[in-house]
Amino acid sequence: MKFDVWTRDARTLAADALVLFVFEEDTLNTPPLDGFNEALPGLLPNVMGREMRGKMGETVTLHLAGGVEAKRLLLVGAGPAADFDLRALRRCSAQAARVATKKGVTTLGIVPRSPFELAHAAAVADGVLTGVYDPALYRKPKEDTKHIDSVTLCVEPQLAEVVQAGINRGVTLAEAVNFARTLAQEPSNKLTPVEMARRAQAMAEQEGLTCLVLGRAAMMELGMGALLAVGQGSAQEPQLIRLSYRPAGSTADGHMRLALVGKGITFDTGGICLKPRDAMWEMKYDMSGGAAVIGAMQAIARLKPPIAVDGYVAAAENMPSAASYKPGDVLHAYNGKTIEVIDTDAEGRLVLCDALAYARKDGGATHIVDLATLTGAVMVALGQERAGLMGTDTAWIESVKAAAAAAGEKVWQLPLDEEYGELMKSDIADIKNLGNRYAGSITAAWFLREFVEDTPWVHLDIAGVAWLDADKPDLAKGPTGFGVRTLVQLVEQMSAGPVK
Ligand code: BES
Ligand code: ZN
Ligand code: ZN
Repeated sequence: MKFDVWTRDARTLAADALVLFVFEEDTLNTPPLDGFNEALPGLLPNVMGREMRGKMGETVTLHLAGGVEAKRLLLVGAGPAADFDLRALRRCSAQAARVATKKGVTTLGIVPRSPFELAHAAAVADGVLTGVYDPALYRKPKEDTKHIDSVTLCVEPQLAEVVQAGINRGVTLAEAVNFARTLAQEPSNKLTPVEMARRAQAMAEQEGLTCLVLGRAAMMELGMGALLAVGQGSAQEPQLIRLSYRPAGSTADGHMRLALVGKGITFDTGGICLKPRDAMWEMKYDMSGGAAVIGAMQAIARLKPPIAVDGYVAAAENMPSAASYKPGDVLHAYNGKTIEVIDTDAEGRLVLCDALAYARKDGGATHIVDLATLTGAVMVALGQERAGLMGTDTAWIESVKAAAAAAGEKVWQLPLDEEYGELMKSDIADIKNLGNRYAGSITAAWFLREFVEDTPWVHLDIAGVAWLDADKPDLAKGPTGFGVRTLVQLVEQMSAGPVK
C-alpha cells in the first residue's frame, strides 16, 4: 500500500472513495462538509442527522455521479469533537479502511479534520494498515479480492512535509504491530520456539539489530533451571532470544538501558496440570508478549532513538509428557533462587523469571518492562479492555502509564503490596509458583518481582487484551499486537528526557 499527500482541493481528488469524518456537533456549514455540500447539492441533507449523526462507529457510503472527482463519499462517525484524540482518529481511520476494503475500493482519499500534524498523520497511517490487516494467514485468497493500493491524505500545502514524516512513523508502527499479530496468529506447529527465534533473527538482520539465541545447552550452562523446566516436556527446544539495539556512537556506560521482556510460550497446554479442552487452541497466543517485544524492536530499529534497548523473549512450549516437570518439583532459577512448582500451568512466571534475571545481570538493564499473557485472573478483573499494570518504582510506573496513554493502549494499575508476598511462601523452597485462589494476577506479578530486585520494573499482564474474540469495526478478531505502540512510545519518551 502506498501513501501520499494531495495539497489541492479535496473535491478534485479522483479516488474510488473519499473519507470524511463527521462529529456529533457538525452541521452542513462545518468545514470540510460545507464544501462538499456545495459541490453535491441535496445529497448530504438526506443523511446528516439521520443515518449519519456523527456517532463513533456509524458509517454511510454515498455513491456519486459527478459534482466531485471521487466515486464515493464515505462518511465516518467520529463522536463528539472534544473526545477526538489520536486513538479515536486511528480507530476511525481503521474503520474507514475496513469498510472501503469490503466495498472493493482500491484508491482511498482521506479528508482529515483540523488540527492535522505529524502525530495525526501517523495515527491515520497506523489505523489504515492495522485496520486492513487480514489474520487469515493460511486461507487461499479469492481470485477477485481487491485491496487498497493507495491512500491519499488531503492536507494544506504547508503541512505536506510534516504529514509525510507522520505517515512514515505510522507505517513503521503499524508494520511492527502487524508483525506481532502475525507471530501471535501463527499456530504452534508453525511457530515453535526455534521458529520464533529464526523470525527474530531474520528481522534483526534486515533491520540492523544484533540477535543472540540461547538454546538448551547454553541455558543449562548458565543454570536457567526455571525456563528449562517449562520446556523439558516438549519435543521443541526452548530458546532465550535477545535482540539488541544500540544508538550510533554510544558508549552506553552510565546511561539508561531499557530491557523489554516478553513471555514466549508458543503453546500452553498447561503441562501435567492440563488445561480443559475448551478454547485450548487459543493458547497459541501465549507468546503475544514476546511477539510485542519483537515487533517493538523492529520499530525501534527503524526509528533509531538515542537510547540502548534490549528485547528478550523467553520461548518454550508447555507440554505434558514423560519428560515434563511436575507439581512438587523444585527448580533452580538463574539468579540462584529455588522455586517449588505447585501448578505446571503457572509456567509464564517461570520462563520470565530467568529472562528477567538475565536482563538485569548480563544485560545490565537499568529499567525493565515485561509483557505476558500471564493470568486468566486479569481477564476476570479487567476484561478485554485494559491490561493489568504492576511495578516497583513509582516514577517508572508513571512513565509507562504515560506512554500507554499517549500510545492509545489502555492499562490499569493493580497494587503490589508486601502482604501479597505471604501467599507465595513455600515450605520447601525460596518461593512457590502459585498463590491461593485470590488476586491471581497480583501474586503472579509478586513472583516476578522476586527476580527483578531493585531495578525499576513494570509488568503488563496482557492476557485479556492480546486477543479479540470477535471482529470490531476497527480491528479483525484474533491477535491485537497490544503493547507494541506503548513500548515504542516509552522509548521515545525516555529519549526526550531521563527517567528518575
Ligand atoms: N497462559 C495462561 C494465562 C491465560 C489464560 C492467558 C487465559 C490467556 C487467556 C497462564 O499460563 C495460565 O495458565 N495461568 C493460570 C495460572 C494459574 C495456574 C495460577 C490461570 O490463569 O489459570
Ligand atoms: Zn499456563
Ligand atoms: Zn501461559
